[in-house]
Amino acid sequence: EKDGYEHFMMKEMYEEPKVIRDTINPRIKDGELVLDNVTITEEDISKLEKIYIVACGTAYHAGVIGKYIIEKLCRIPVEVDVASEFRYRDPLVSDKNMTIIISQSGETLDTLFALRESKKRGARILSIVNVVGSSIARDSDDVLYTWAGPEIAVASTKAYNTQLTALYMVALELGLKKGTITKEEADAILGQLKQIPNDIEKILENKEDIQKFAHQHYNAKSIFFIGRGLDYALSLEGSLKLKEISYIHSEAYAGGELKHGTIALIEKGTLVVCPMTQDNLFDKMVSNIREVKARGAVVLAITQEKHAEELKKTADTVITIPDVDSLVAPISAVTPLQLFAYYMALEKGCDVDKPRNLAKSVTVE
Ligand code: F6R
Repeated sequence: EKDGYEHFMMKEMYEEPKVIRDTINPRIKDGELVLDNVTITEEDISKLEKIYIVACGTAYHAGVIGKYIIEKLCRIPVEVDVASEFRYRDPLVSDKNMTIIISQSGETLDTLFALRESKKRGARILSIVNVVGSSIARDSDDVLYTWAGPEIAVASTKAYNTQLTALYMVALELGLKKGTITKEEADAILGQLKQIPNDIEKILENKEDIQKFAHQHYNAKSIFFIGRGLDYALSLEGSLKLKEISYIHSEAYAGGELKHGTIALIEKGTLVVCPMTQDNLFDKMVSNIREVKARGAVVLAITQEKHAEELKKTADTVITIPDVDSLVAPISAVTPLQLFAYYMALEKGCDVDKPRNLAKSVTVE
């Protein structure tokens, strides 16, 4: 059932183009975005003072991207929290809020209880879930399914890409209904989303570049991920994926924050991974790369083809993704980070699909 792939994780990364298409295409009818099972009205949206996004692990990292996107397109404040913190902190949730719950399995206990806590306090619940009829789906007012299909590898890959895709569609729906974006703007973003699967196909075709890099660096003891804006959110996910399956210590830092924290840990040979897909923050990141290079870091940057030549002057290795608008870039830019984690784990001889001590679905506290 691995269809000839060595691991489920690789098979599932190869499914990303298809499952993103499956998540988008059925929801475009005659050029209009139609979110099945989402019945929130213009009136409901106009009453929203704030949106909470609550999830665990990789789904939480999708939520961090969701915050940026919803705030940008809908101009509603968004707070994103991990479920195990949210449910116990007496959250300020009421009927003036909506809680967006994200979960691949739909069964994560902390996430389910965060949902119930939110509901009890009067919030409307919209969930982004992969498993049809799961507990989280059943308890929600609105459900937007990610059509990622079964995910077997413990480390989540394709589910994350589809969670992002779904979050962009939610942001478009809310923005259109609230009037903070025009139909033309929404159409343009939808057009970009539809291009992403082709981009991921190209990224997968070029996976050997990442494999080669991993082959040279798998002995790293500690790896930093730094990024700004959406690339910071991506850094969180890239770092988690690496830790989960390769057991290499890693930390994600906002690019501008490193010098307020652990830049002292960057020494000769320390590997620093920099997703750099945000055009308006590109120069700031180049400065951050110079800072870490001055301390001896080896820098792997991931960026659009259009930036590659320039970036090669600063970073040691540049992995490219096809040119894509900064707003939607995370959906394809995460794939090289997933591949990086995969090849590092493989080089180290780790059990890629079943990392130690982790369960696919955490139904206990
Ligand atoms: C990471 C991973 C976990 C899950 C988390 C939430 O690769 O798989 O961090 O993302 O346990 O699980 P779901 O999405 O099923 O609620």
